[in-house]
Amino acid sequence: MMLATMALLLCLAGVGAARIQDPLQVPVWPETPPPSAPAYTPVGSLSAVGPDAYTTLTHPLFTRHSVRIKQTTDFCDTTVKLYTGYIDVDAKHLFFYFFESRNDPDKDDVLFWTNGGPGGSSQLGLYMELGPCRIVNATEGPKYHPESWNSNANVFFVDQPIGVGYSYAEHGITVGTTEEAADDIAAFIAIFFEHFSSFKGRSLHLAGESYGGRYIPLFAAAVHDQNALLVAAGGTPINLTSAIIGNGFTEPTAMFPSYHTMTCTPASLPPVLDISTCVRMKKAVPRCQKWFKAACVDQFDMISCRAANTFCETELLIPFLLTGGNAYDMSKSCEDLDALCYPVTKSIVEYLNRPDVLDALAVDPHVRGFAFVSWPVNSAFWQSGDELHTSVDHVEGLLERGVSVLIYVGTYDLGCNWVGNERWTLDMDWSGKDAFGRAPLRAWEVNGTVAGKTRSAAGLTFATVDAAGHMVPYDKPTQALALINRWLAKEPL
Ligand SMILES: *[C@@H]1O[C@H](CO)[C@@H](O)[C@H](O)[C@H]1NC(C)=O
Ligand SMILES: *[C@@H]1O[C@H](CO)[C@@H](O)[C@H](O)[C@H]1NC(C)=O
Ligand SMILES: *[C@@H]1O[C@H](CO)[C@@H](O)[C@H](O)[C@H]1NC(C)=O
Repeated sequence: MMLATMALLLCLAGVGAARIQDPLQVPVWPETPPPSAPAYTPVGSLSAVGPDAYTTLTHPLFTRHSVRIKQTTDFCDTTVKLYTGYIDVDAKHLFFYFFESRNDPDKDDVLFWTNGGPGGSSQLGLYMELGPCRIVNATEGPKYHPESWNSNANVFFVDQPIGVGYSYAEHGITVGTTEEAADDIAAFIAIFFEHFSSFKGRSLHLAGESYGGRYIPLFAAAVHDQNALLVAAGGTPINLTSAIIGNGFTEPTAMFPSYHTMTCTPASLPPVLDISTCVRMKKAVPRCQKWFKAACVDQFDMISCRAANTFCETELLIPFLLTGGNAYDMSKSCEDLDALCYPVTKSIVEYLNRPDVLDALAVDPHVRGFAFVSWPVNSAFWQSGDELHTSVDHVEGLLERGVSVLIYVGTYDLGCNWVGNERWTLDMDWSGKDAFGRAPLRAWEVNGTVAGKTRSAAGLTFATVDAAGHMVPYDKPTQALALINRWLAKEPL
């Protein structure tokens, strides 16, 4: 998420031929100025970063990247220190928050969070889902959120890629692929960990939701692969411990048949579509799978793949949307399509556009307003065909190298539902496949009450969260926090 289910965003963005663009269109990057041998002195301690002005972090290995960071006081959660700033990459500027842990900031793990979209702001995750404060009224502003994920972790929220939230670029540059976005995130993480010695070797978890199911596997792979460079340059490798995906869009091939299962069988709720629609959908499933496999998987052909994708969505996803149902939570109707079915997002957007808030967070004056989804970014990803690719191979690569993976899914979400996510976790080709397939799907509990089902083996954990929609920490904050705390503590769910 937020938002943003891929599926619904794609649908809102308009499924159809009108959106087919030149597949060879690639963004043109400005020339990088020659590096001017930057002096490298680690800042050492985060407490040396003050509230009055930005401290700038550079690193000789990343000549195009630097980080501006400052303390922000009396904001959102006064029980912890908050730092905000920008990751500067040439003309690109990515906004981030870093909240210290409420438990032991000097020892607790670090968790990076991004929302999806593509184009969704991670500030929706912060203020609506898992952050240290929540906003339900723009005038009243943030209220302390006891079930925040910084209970036992230091947490980053990053508005990425550029163009999203408070992030921006000069000269109208856009990022339209997850690979490009991953380069900036991996460099940022290295610069941050290299500068603050207390973070060296600290466990890092990369987490995301929805389109985060594509971002996170590629970001984590970039962080992992970058370690060789870091070590060669005399740095400390990033201790990448896990990748965490909530209601993710990771494997398109597994999602299409699941739309039929979710709407035409009692997989989570009684069937919502009528029999004749379901019969038509069922006939479309094998054709969709065959076409998608031929045009997108076996040999990628942009034009044909996009046509296959459009066919699959039209036949399998649109019938539910036509009922006026909420694709993020099938148990609810969609109250407000402009707010992607969650009216509270309007209060968050209004709050984040308040001039006093922009000042308090030292948002660059170049940023003219906050929107919870950037449609230009969404469209750039659409044009590049980023969402037509599987991210499962990256998940497999991480697992084979000892990086754990948690896939959790609220059971009422349709767009990025549990059926499709369970399917790809079982089908994935990796050395733990047999062990994972044999592992029982058992109930997990919070305080003696069943919270969902889980299956775990060889570093991979799959978990459902009962009666939660697309945004699990919004719908089920207690269960979501129990889940993340057990995961961070390396306890079984
Ligand atoms: C927000 O809070 C203000 C001040 O407490 C109140 O006057 C206003 O009615 C609230 N707005 C909404 C939409 O509830
Ligand atoms: C990585 O973090 C884990 C704790 O989560 C720790 O056990 C391990 O020693 C760390 N590895 C390195 C190389 O620092
Ligand atoms: C479980 O219940 C205990 C006692 O009522 C309470 O202190 C604790 O916070 C609860 N834990 C969760 C995760 O809800």
